[in-house]
Amino acid sequence: MTTVAIIPAAGSGKRMQGGLSKQYLPVDGKMILLHTLSVFELSPDIDEIVLVAPEEDIPMIRQMIVEHRGMSKVRHVMAGGKQRQDSVRNGLAAVENQADIVLIHDAVRPFISENLIRLTVQEAEKHGAVAVGMPVKDTIKRVDPGGWIVETLNRQVLWMTQTPQAFKRSVIQEAYRRADEDQFYGTDDASLVERMGFRVKMIAASYANIKITTPEDLLMAEFLIKRQKRGNVS
Ligand code: CTP
Ligand code: MG
Repeated sequence: MTTVAIIPAAGSGKRMQGGLSKQYLPVDGKMILLHTLSVFELSPDIDEIVLVAPEEDIPMIRQMIVEHRGMSKVRHVMAGGKQRQDSVRNGLAAVENQADIVLIHDAVRPFISENLIRLTVQEAEKHGAVAVGMPVKDTIKRVDPGGWIVETLNRQVLWMTQTPQAFKRSVIQEAYRRADEDQFYGTDDASLVERMGFRVKMIAASYANIKITTPEDLLMAEFLIKRQKRGNVS
């Protein structure tokens, strides 16, 4: 069983409204990207890492990986694309045919745990396609362009999707091939698999598995990491 993790880290972090792309910002004095990579490096369930970075940053990233001698699983650093889906596609191109499972995880979700990686990989082996997420906390409404509420959705069946998402290699490769063919862009990887009619299993992760997106998330991340250091599991 070979499992490859693709880590897309080629975004520019527009919603963070800062100069430096958010994957390079520090949390607890360490780059977010390094927090995330460390978990995968240490996970016994991951054999190889394909990192996807902005093309102009690749020399800097390679240097960083050499300096952190612990990062021995990073086999490829690929150039990212315009949208996240383009970046993941470039990462997939580096995944070799002997890989059984491909797990995809956002670089900017540093609170990923070894346990969640294990669970995601196990479920992907079983079902072929899995996404992690959590039930929504707020009531979600559909609103028209004029700002009027169209309907209130049933919260009982709504989940916010996170990463990791993991798939049998053939399933995700076929999903990306078809999305390319149809010029379809989704907001996560599972949606490309769903549109083929393939069932994707949702599994519960943690509300602490946040994506660092806006400045408030950085404050939350500093808080969560202190809690983690005190030994409270997230
Ligand atoms: N990502 C990527 N390539 C892109 C866009 C995003 O590899 N063209 C990566 C980001 O680096 C991040 C993950 O996908 O690790 C999730 O994306 P998101 O949170 O949207 O990050 P950004 O696109 O950087 O942020 P924003 O949408 O605010 O510009
Ligand atoms: Mg984005």
